[in-house]
Amino acid sequence: MKPFPLTALFCIFLLAITFSCHQKAASPITSAADSSRLERGKYLVETVGSCMHCHSQRDFTKFSGPIKEETKGMGGIGYPKFGVLFSSNITPDAATGIGSWTDDEIARAIALGIRKNGDTLFPIMPYYEYNKMSKEDIYSIVAYLRTLKPISNKIPDRKLKAPAGPERDRFAFSPIGANPEPSSKDSIQTGKYLANIGACVSCHTPKTDDDHLIVDSSYAGGDVMGQKFGFHVTSPNITPDETTGIGKWTETSFVSKFTVFRQASSYEFDPHTKNTIMPWIMLGQMKDEDLKAVYAYLKTVKPIQHQIEKWH
Ligand code: HEC
Ligand code: HEC
Repeated sequence: MKPFPLTALFCIFLLAITFSCHQKAASPITSAADSSRLERGKYLVETVGSCMHCHSQRDFTKFSGPIKEETKGMGGIGYPKFGVLFSSNITPDAATGIGSWTDDEIARAIALGIRKNGDTLFPIMPYYEYNKMSKEDIYSIVAYLRTLKPISNKIPDRKLKAPAGPERDRFAFSPIGANPEPSSKDSIQTGKYLANIGACVSCHTPKTDDDHLIVDSSYAGGDVMGQKFGFHVTSPNITPDETTGIGKWTETSFVSKFTVFRQASSYEFDPHTKNTIMPWIMLGQMKDEDLKAVYAYLKTVKPIQHQIEKWH
């Protein structure tokens, strides 16, 4: 009779383990600040996602407008073309930033374009691209945003020329959690995933007069930008067309175009009107293998012949 209670105990023990493992696997993702999640969040926010490119003040007396460190996340960049529209304060300041928002509310803004109060964000903010991120990546961004220094900066109320709802309706959205992260072994899919987070297409595609992307010409360049910072630059063709795009670039030449910006000497000079809005300083910090993946992906997009002169 003795072995029975022992076996029973063992079974209970096994059940307890199975149950606790199951509990762990099924627990919802929160922005709990574990170090790998913070590291990933920082990488996405400060390099490939270039969030700070729009959500910080920039120094355009230097090439590519390095962000002013002390303004990180405070927002306030204006988009007068669309009315009274400013980038939001995404620091954890409770009164003027997103400090009082829950993780889910922040995730919803980033990946679905819906603000805490239910308003639709204007799609200058590329949430239609961030929608393609995995749930883990979205919540890693949320976790990292919570570690920014809170800055009190009240953003003026929005007065849009065109309502945001119909602008958002032009894009398709999947629910948060529907997108897997690509296998790191698949460099084309990884490159595509990163190019989405980098919103490369939003700048490297010509636009209609009412500022909508001409999707058939994705990555063919031709959008003129930089005006509000006092210069004009036309985004180049980054399709694999051999004569007018990057078709003849090698992987090494592509990667080094970015990595050269790891040295401050490549941007700490005044380029006058030959400045750029391309987030070189942020994208230049991407890992080499990620830049290689973006190159591999761009080589697979439709080649389009479209000659661009960047500065004229
Ligand atoms: C091209 C510029 C641009 C980029 C890049 C960008 N944003 Fe935004 N973001 C904006 C603008 C503009 C708004 C405000 C839109 C509006 O008011 O309709 C905004 C709004 C937000 C909001 C809503 C906050 C609020 O108070 O309503 C959050 C959160 C946010 N952005 C986070 C991010 C994160 C995280 C990233 C990077 C993954 C990012 N943004 C990248 C321009 C940008
Ligand atoms: C905010 C707008 C913007 C975003 C976002 C952006 N670019 Fe650019 N990019 C530009 C502009 C403008 C230029 C031209 C001026 C220059 O070379 O700096 C440029 C230049 C380039 C060039 C140099 C091409 C040449 O012919 O010299 C490459 C390559 C490039 N971008 C790739 C990318 C990739 C890859 C991404 C996404 C990870 C990206 N860009 C995101 C605006 C942007």
